[in-house]
Amino acid sequence: MSQYNLDLGRTEFGDPANTGNLMSIEEAHQLLEEWVGNERLRLHMKQVAAMMKAWAIEREGADPQTALAWELAGLLHDADWEKYPELHGKIIIKELEQRNIDPAVIHCIASHGPRYFGVEPVSNMDKMIYVFDELSGFVHASALIRPTGYEGMDVKSILKKLKTASFAAQVNREDITDAISRIDQSLEEIIQFILDHQKEVK
Ligand SMILES: [Fe+2]
Ligand SMILES: [Fe+2]
Repeated sequence: MSQYNLDLGRTEFGDPANTGNLMSIEEAHQLLEEWVGNERLRLHMKQVAAMMKAWAIEREGADPQTALAWELAGLLHDADWEKYPELHGKIIIKELEQRNIDPAVIHCIASHGPRYFGVEPVSNMDKMIYVFDELSGFVHASALIRPTGYEGMDVKSILKKLKTASFAAQVNREDITDAISRIDQSLEEIIQFILDHQKEVK
């Protein structure tokens, strides 16, 4: 993910008094428009956001407010990566703290790369952003090289590509194994979930 030292140097984020404070999804999209010029990177965040939202609703039985929290974390997790690669994580976290956003959302964003940020995923929301961050992008990379895209793509072909080190080499297989080891679901189940939900994301 990075040649920089991205360690956040802390594991507490935001103010517990702000629990339940979110921003609207329109505001979050506006922040992305302002901060991220790269269409591909914006799509990555929209994809992770869609997986987080769908997972919260379908697998966690989340109410709309909680589902929005999951979606916001997905949508903003890499918002500072393009402009401040050497400060990735720190800038968006500071921004959300200044906007008095729910600490659970900020902790989730801080959890999306434990090896880099030095923050362990704690909540289910934390664990799932870590899982979806790498796998959503990997499934998308797999779809891009197929003439029919997501159509007809199955779990088996993704598993095979994961074993091919040269394919999407920037996706760290150890991070995927580590992320999956922290949840109750299997790698196969997560890939199927992504296949079922990601192709509509634009
Ligand atoms: Fe990131
Ligand atoms: Fe990401």
